[in-house]
Amino acid sequence: MMIQRIFRAAFAAALLTAVFGTAGAAAADNVGPDACKKCHTAEHGVWEGTPHFSSFKEIHRDKKAKDIVKAVGDRRMKKSDTCVMCHYTVIDGKAEAGPSCESCHGAAKEWIDIHNDKKNPNSIQDGIAKGMIHSSMIYDIASNCMSCHGLANPNLPGDTAATMLENGHPLNPGFELVEYSQGVVRHRFYPPDVKNNQEMTDAQKSVYFLVGQAAALVSATDAISKTDNAKYVEAQNKRIAKAKEVLSAIPEAADVLANPTDEAGRAFGEAIKGKDFTGQVGSMLPTKYK
Ligand code: HEC
Ligand code: HEC
Ligand code: HEC
Ligand code: HEC
Repeated sequence: MMIQRIFRAAFAAALLTAVFGTAGAAAADNVGPDACKKCHTAEHGVWEGTPHFSSFKEIHRDKKAKDIVKAVGDRRMKKSDTCVMCHYTVIDGKAEAGPSCESCHGAAKEWIDIHNDKKNPNSIQDGIAKGMIHSSMIYDIASNCMSCHGLANPNLPGDTAATMLENGHPLNPGFELVEYSQGVVRHRFYPPDVKNNQEMTDAQKSVYFLVGQAAALVSATDAISKTDNAKYVEAQNKRIAKAKEVLSAIPEAADVLANPTDEAGRAFGEAIKGKDFTGQVGSMLPTKYK
């Protein structure tokens, strides 16, 4: 048990380092969505209406799931280290929910007490320092979506990803941040109108659209460096081509195009925050959402 814990902690730290470049960050562990529910009832209600929530009871029963899990040499999805990294929220070593709050906002064991400390005026900033992903950190949020949705988790060995793809696991190169974040997943109960799940303005969507492309570019570039499986490389190259096409019209994207890293992606996200790119990408914004 102890060894397993240490392993998990090391694994989580490696994951954080890989995704966010926060080398030396404290080990991260989940507390689970129930721990967020009492204060974030509305967000929890939204989550319960998403496939992220419902897949927990369903996906392992899928015929395809059984074939894919066998192909990577494991027997049960909920016990497979490979499947668990994208399909489940692991609490104390056990898969307890589908992708949930902490899959997108960062594992909370290290920040939940800080977050709940009402006497600390800097609780959000201090929480971020311990791995919390705030809504203002658009690139980090997008990059997180891509790590699961592009079949490109930084901890997923390239050959395993390719084996999964060859055995029927989806890799959806068309995953686009606005289309996927503004449908069932959307929770925007921002003050002052905290009872209303607000829609994004077109300007906000245009920023999300661009940051999503930057995150896809970084994720896919990293992914193709890990295997030369033709089918996998082709799918990742589609993501790269689309991102390059979109970003090449945006001067602020020059750095991330030349050097697709998380640092450049994050800087791009900061540089374009609050601006309006509907003139450049308005016609590419989706009109229907997942
Ligand atoms: C004790 C009540 C409480 C609990 C429990 C709680 N939160 Fe919060 N949370 C708040 C409050 C209050 C705010 C708004 C604080 C602010 O913005 O200054 C907040 C803000 C946030 C934000 C930032 C909002 C933004 O714009 O991005 C996120 C993300 C968040 N919480 C996630 C979580 C997650 C995930 C959990 C469970 C692991 C959780 N919270 C548990 C009270 C709570
Ligand atoms: C890198 C992240 C990642 C890993 C690792 C991963 N999955 Fe998935 N899986 C996803 C995502 C994301 C989807 C949803 C695909 C979409 O909508 O584009 C999905 C969908 C599926 C589906 C539904 C397929 C369909 O066509 O409806 C099955 C079955 C599945 N995964 C099984 C597995 C199994 C078994 C493992 C472990 C061997 C695994 N996955 C590992 C991310 C992952
Ligand atoms: C699929 C990823 C994902 C999941 C799962 C998720 N969030 Fe979020 N969350 C986001 C994104 C993206 C935003 C930023 C939304 C925006 O600004 O448009 C956000 C914003 C927020 C905010 C600020 C907006 C608001 O509604 O007040 C809070 C608080 C929050 N999330 C809490 C939670 C809690 C609690 C859970 C679990 C019940 C959760 N989130 C699950 C991605 C996610
Ligand atoms: C920890 C991995 C993980 C993260 C992070 C994640 N997802 Fe997912 N997502 C999944 C998996 C797995 C599924 C498939 C669930 C199923 O259908 O069984 C899924 C399904 C979805 C679906 C339903 C797709 C459909 O075709 O109906 C949407 C929408 C979605 N995710 C949006 C997002 C967005 C937006 C983000 C980032 C803000 C995000 N996800 C982050 C793993 C993840």
